[in-house]
Amino acid sequence: MTRIDIISIFPEYFAPLDVSLIGKARERGTIDVRVHQLRDWAHDVHKTVDDTPYGGGPGMVMKPEVWGEAIDSVIGDGAPRMVVPTPSGRPFTQELAQELAGEPWLLFACGRYEGIDTRVVEEYAGRLRVDEVCIGDYVLAGGEVAVLVMVEAVGRLLPGVLGNAQSAVDDSFAPGSMRNLVEGPVYTKPPVWRGREVPDVLLSGHHGKIARWRRDEALRRTVRNRPELAAELDPETLDKHDRKL
Ligand code: ADE
Repeated sequence: MTRIDIISIFPEYFAPLDVSLIGKARERGTIDVRVHQLRDWAHDVHKTVDDTPYGGGPGMVMKPEVWGEAIDSVIGDGAPRMVVPTPSGRPFTQELAQELAGEPWLLFACGRYEGIDTRVVEEYAGRLRVDEVCIGDYVLAGGEVAVLVMVEAVGRLLPGVLGNAQSAVDDSFAPGSMRNLVEGPVYTKPPVWRGREVPDVLLSGHHGKIARWRRDEALRRTVRNRPELAAELDPETLDKHDRKL
């Protein structure tokens, strides 16, 4: 059982975690998700969690004392791996998702406004493994949606969450043969739709040829849609056929 704690001033953002794959995994007890309201650890009548930034500038910064009490109370004597979503963090990748999926306990600390006083990360980095993580080169209104993204990406990698364990192996970006590759196109019935035919090879039942075709299509799509990834493909792992594509 993987435990996931999430601290946020908007616990309502996490309603989607009741649904679909992650919702089912929670019902089955594969994942234990606990969402906490940060304001429960604010003591003034207004439940204040932010203040103006030292040095001036726009926006507000989240106060360290409230975060410190919240995290101490949630972790007790334990030592979860802590993730702080922020546009200034390291990139979230499938590789990091795999790594997080191997942890027994994750704690996500969602900042809002201009972020959390930086001493909070410093403080816990002395005791826990802490990563500041960015899900993409754009700025969200807060860390909540980024945490939903990460919990879904990590959750589907946990044993027993996906119906078919092979689908995580074949995923775009999956370490192994899909490293630096995105998946190619997929088809289902009917064999002809609006005059558009499913490629013959997929109906052939020839597993070797199907695997070859899928790899070729993955390479083609990677070159077209993700040239920067294609440039990272290791020439050693490309076979003679790949090189001609
Ligand atoms: N908070 C705001 N924008 C973010 C991003 N791109 N990734 C992670 N956390 C964020």
